[in-house]
Amino acid sequence: MDAVTPDTTRPFERIGVVGLGTMGAGIAEIFARNGYEVVGIEINDAGLERGRQHIAHSTGRAVSRGKLTEEEQAELIGRITFTTDLQDAKDCQFVMEAVIEQLPVKQEVIGRLGAIVAPDAILATNTSSLSVTEISTATPNPGRVVGVHFFNPAPVQALVEVVRTVVTEPEVLDKVSQLLRSLGKTPIVCGDKAGFIANTLLFGYLNHAVSMYEGKYASREDIDAAMRFGCGYPMGPLALLDLIGLDTAYEILDTMYKQGRDRLHAPAPILKQYVTAGLLGRKSGRGFYTYEAPDSRVVV
Ligand code: 3HC
Repeated sequence: MDAVTPDTTRPFERIGVVGLGTMGAGIAEIFARNGYEVVGIEINDAGLERGRQHIAHSTGRAVSRGKLTEEEQAELIGRITFTTDLQDAKDCQFVMEAVIEQLPVKQEVIGRLGAIVAPDAILATNTSSLSVTEISTATPNPGRVVGVHFFNPAPVQALVEVVRTVVTEPEVLDKVSQLLRSLGKTPIVCGDKAGFIANTLLFGYLNHAVSMYEGKYASREDIDAAMRFGCGYPMGPLALLDLIGLDTAYEILDTMYKQGRDRLHAPAPILKQYVTAGLLGRKSGRGFYTYEAPDSRVVV
């Protein structure tokens, strides 16, 4: 499918984003960048500050590249209301959760949101591998729940997977697709199976690269160079895993493996060891590579 021409028709005005980690902050930024009023919600002040910093850093990069003026950056950030109170989502017509990739946590957030927003509001989950159906049953209105899976870095990657359950209302799919097009994104629709389309294909490959590294078959640099310069990928698999976050990657693989029992998705043991040791990739400053600062792209 070709990239879409931005359709500026806006189906909603006020958008909620719950969870301002790597993905949530990027998602809040895109909505604000496209003129939406955003309510950005985190569990505590520290999380809120981290989300604010992430957005300031990301938009600051756009300023330094001449893609945004300082005034536009301030306006963009000014469109985001930062809060720790979930009730502040009550007037949002569309609320997206991007909290930690754990079913009970996502169910709790979606369940609480279901009791806060209007009955016709749409609730979306950014899960990358959990069951959207199971998440949706936490609300009184599962037909209004949909998976909306952005890719990292969310402000850059054009694709968004829209995941329908057997009860998602067709009008919800239409409105969400329209919302994504208004951001200049390319929505594709698929059913509710762990990993959806892209992660099912991608993570077998990433996991294989980790096994290759774990088995000392080749250096991290050579594994990455093979795919960058041999196959034209923008990043090698180990650098990409550091970008995704090794904890997130582990959770995705583990969930896909438990659901599909495909050996390709059985997480390479070293991945779990890295996560347990707190080596989570860019966000912790160290993963397969070491970074000068958390979230920096400078490899030491
Ligand atoms: N946040 C925001 N913007 C970023 C960014 C970040 N983390 N990293 C790069 N950018 C922006 C830059 O500002 C620049 O914007 P501009 O064109 O408007 O000036 C643009 O992206 C290109 O950046 P650079 O020129 O500095 O760097 P590259 O050309 O090397 O691109 C990359 C960096 C976009 C990360 C590119 O290497 C890439 O596409 N890598 C592959 C990423 C990928 O595969 N993502 C999918 C992961 S799977 C996933 O997310 C699913 C989930 O469920 C885990």
